[in-house]
Amino acid sequence: MKIIRSISKIKKELSRKKRKGLTIGLIPTMGYLHEGHASLVKRARQDNDLVVVSIFVNPAQFGPNEDYMEYPRNLREDAVLCKNEGVDYIFCPSVKAMYPKGYSTYVKVKGLTENLCGKFRPTHFRGVTTVVVKLFNIADPDIAYFGHKDAQQAIVIKRMAEDLNMDVRIKVMPTVRERDGLAMSSRNGYLSSDERRVAPTVYRALQLARDLIRLGDRDAANIRSEMRKMLSPVVSKIDYISIVDPKDLKEIKTIKGGVLVAVAVWIGETRLIDNIEVKA
Ligand code: PAJ
Repeated sequence: MKIIRSISKIKKELSRKKRKGLTIGLIPTMGYLHEGHASLVKRARQDNDLVVVSIFVNPAQFGPNEDYMEYPRNLREDAVLCKNEGVDYIFCPSVKAMYPKGYSTYVKVKGLTENLCGKFRPTHFRGVTTVVVKLFNIADPDIAYFGHKDAQQAIVIKRMAEDLNMDVRIKVMPTVRERDGLAMSSRNGYLSSDERRVAPTVYRALQLARDLIRLGDRDAANIRSEMRKMLSPVVSKIDYISIVDPKDLKEIKTIKGGVLVAVAVWIGETRLIDNIEVKA
């Protein structure tokens, strides 16, 4: 496994491999890797000749009062996980290399980025799509892997790849959870032990929605209100509880077909997101 920081070096190396006919799978990450990331790597390992994991805490996707500075980083442990999973390259550029002085270009996907997390993090998805395009241009992957944990992000990136005629397939893999249901996240480490104990309520609220829909409830407002009742006692703030059409992320009133149930809540000072897809 090679760890490469230089953009020009990894570009040269990977384009040489591509010319030889080798296929490349890319997993973009911000590091502090866990089993959720590992599941993407495992899939990429099956599908491709070469597996590239990028590790870059992307300042462009953090708002001014968000946790960019505190975001956990541990390249040494990340490298151990990558090596164990059979990764070929870790690409970990500096902020200066990715956004040099004079940097001026941003990619924005309209329509899909205003609802859900976009409402509370207005510049977030612009930062995500911008860095992902840069990573795609640098690694030129055949397939890029994303997690359903960040469902809106995956939908936005799929839209972008299609709209911009990019030669990359986007694969979205299921959310990996702790045994008690909490979705794995690099941010879970922010939780105190008391907060960690109640955090699985987020997933339980999603399961409640699923059960209500399976029992025949089609009234999204009622389901959201039942979820709110479950979440309110344990969260410090609710950003949103939403039931949306997974195609356009628009809020749904009457459930039919498949829906995306998505939540963003604060437990203490930690913002957690989670979601499930449910078929009526
Ligand atoms: P990060 O939060 O590090 O996540 C990297 C990838 O791992 C994302 O596609 C995310 O959806 C996936 N992932 C995270 N937790 C997961 C879990 N519990 N189960 C399955 N997949 C999971 O998402 C980002 O970084 C950034 O926004 C990035 C796309 C790298 C752009 O900077």
